[in-house]
Amino acid sequence: MSRTFFDAPVERKTAANPLGLKQFDHVEFWVDDADQWRDFFVKKYGMVPRAYGDATTGLAGRRAHLVGQGRVNFVVTEPQGAGPEAEAVRAHLEKHGCGVRDVAFRVQDARHAFAEAQRRGATAVRGVFGNERLATASIAAYGDTIHTFVERKQPGEFLPGFQNVAGGIDDRDINFAMIDHIVANVERMDEWVTFYEQVFGLDLYMHFDINTGRSALMSKVVSSTDGWIKMPINEPSSANSQIQEFLDQYQGPGVQHIALLTPNIILTIDEMRRMGQDFLEVPDSYYDENFEERVGRIDENKETLRQLRILVDRDDKDGYLLQLFTQCVFTRPTLFFEVIQRKGRSMGFGEGNFRALFEAIEREQQRRGTL
Ligand SMILES: [Fe+2]
Repeated sequence: MSRTFFDAPVERKTAANPLGLKQFDHVEFWVDDADQWRDFFVKKYGMVPRAYGDATTGLAGRRAHLVGQGRVNFVVTEPQGAGPEAEAVRAHLEKHGCGVRDVAFRVQDARHAFAEAQRRGATAVRGVFGNERLATASIAAYGDTIHTFVERKQPGEFLPGFQNVAGGIDDRDINFAMIDHIVANVERMDEWVTFYEQVFGLDLYMHFDINTGRSALMSKVVSSTDGWIKMPINEPSSANSQIQEFLDQYQGPGVQHIALLTPNIILTIDEMRRMGQDFLEVPDSYYDENFEERVGRIDENKETLRQLRILVDRDDKDGYLLQLFTQCVFTRPTLFFEVIQRKGRSMGFGEGNFRALFEAIEREQQRRGTL
């Protein structure tokens, strides 16, 4: 595995913020059953219902729930009736299965972001729409994914067509603060890196090639200068790559995983496991003698991490990250979530865990005599 950091000023080609991007605003999933997926995020991810939309609240052709926690906002939308808005969701479901339709960004000025994005080469999907409290506009991204720019002039309203619902009880140990990063799988990585550099003014932040035999991939990360927006973009580098499998299953490029930042991964994973979320299987040998050598000194008790099967990757001499990946959540093996906690100056994405996990699996196989 090779990894290169591009942190020298000369590589920061686009320190400006031409679209006035602030942070991720929300992610919208197009799903077969909005109630079911609302319940999923409430019961297994500790989120609370925040808003609801359908024909009675002014949302044409769709039923949708907004659920969230902290700055994380997820919309789950299903088609309703026979109009064009419903048909668009159905066509998306037919082609991709359930998945992410919209990675939306909060912006200073939606009109400006929309015009400037187009001037820089983006394709318009939906023009500026709004009222005195908020405005939105959307452009095309990879595959059938879009980016909506959301300008919030006054707090308190999610989007036109949605009504707030009374807050649920948020009394669990799960504590997601915000989206840490959103990862795209695409066919041609460099095309999309250039898109985010030229249109969004994001910087190429790091890249890595990972080849463990089972999961060959190349990844480049684009990031806003302030670090609030981080988007790794993956490309398959072999036919049996997990990235190629995603592209085949999803029928094209799309969001592979969304990483949720927590201030306490031990409590969060413990609670999610108890609520029935399945995670990536981590072999016991991941925690053998190679562990200390690889991660160095950490604050957490290794036995606790072993019990909960939490992964660790040191990515800076003054920082490391703890992470764990869920199993794919939808019927097709496409999208999954990541729970991540960063300690110190952690800036990476757990690249070291690809190799560490692969080697741990190999050691298990050797022990069983299958290699
Ligand atoms: Fe990740």
